[in-house]
Amino acid sequence: MSELKIVTERLVLGPLLSHDAPRLFEYRSAPAVCRYQFWEPRSAHEAEEFIERSRSDSFETPDVWHQLAIRLQGQDLLVGDVGVHFPGDPPLQAEFGITLAPEFQGQGLAREALLGLLDHLFTTRSRHRVFASVDPRNGPSVALLERVGMRREAHFRQSLWFKGEWADDLVYALLDSEWRERA
Ligand SMILES: CC(C)(COP(=O)(O)OP(=O)(O)OC[C@H]1O[C@@H](n2cnc3c(N)ncnc32)[C@H](O)[C@@H]1OP(=O)(O)O)[C@@H](O)C(=O)NCCC(=O)NCCS
Repeated sequence: MSELKIVTERLVLGPLLSHDAPRLFEYRSAPAVCRYQFWEPRSAHEAEEFIERSRSDSFETPDVWHQLAIRLQGQDLLVGDVGVHFPGDPPLQAEFGITLAPEFQGQGLAREALLGLLDHLFTTRSRHRVFASVDPRNGPSVALLERVGMRREAHFRQSLWFKGEWADDLVYALLDSEWRERA
């Protein structure tokens, strides 16, 4: 993966590294963290494979999920991670999903990371539309998407077979024109 680096007031978003695997496994396997996530590592080895897959293609490669590390500036410890995916042809849209380790939640860090990511996607990478999909029962994630100013575009009823049951799916989005108006 390219050596992408997004710097915000407190954070640096950049590549996940092989030595992040035990830490990634630790917080991504916590029940409260993986409740609404499709990917749920069962071992540090699975987390290592996930990191290797994420590093094998450049950030711009369409239709591949790229996972970025979220770290506090000047520190190596993973605070969380954010996945980005460029679907379609031309790949001018981006989808993301964000996760913070429980001890770093409630400090505004996810909001800060997402605003940095949105600015990077719209300003540096000239994307047209950025969107995210979330289970309506996932209150903190819904609140986060609304806090960063994303619009609720759709509520699909029982559209995903998820962990043994049908789940609803909310889609939130933002256009480059809306981002520029806000700036
Ligand atoms: C979704 C998730 C990242 C949101 O994290 P979060 O910590 O709630 O979000 P933020 O970092 O924006 O923090 C907001 C909270 O910090 C508080 N806060 C404290 N200091 C702050 C500051 N300096 N700036 C802004 N907010 C601050 C806010 O008041 C808010 O508190 P509240 O939730 O009590 O209202 C987190 O819940 C998570 O990792 N969930 C599991 C993974 C998941 O399901 N992801 C879904 C993929 S889309």
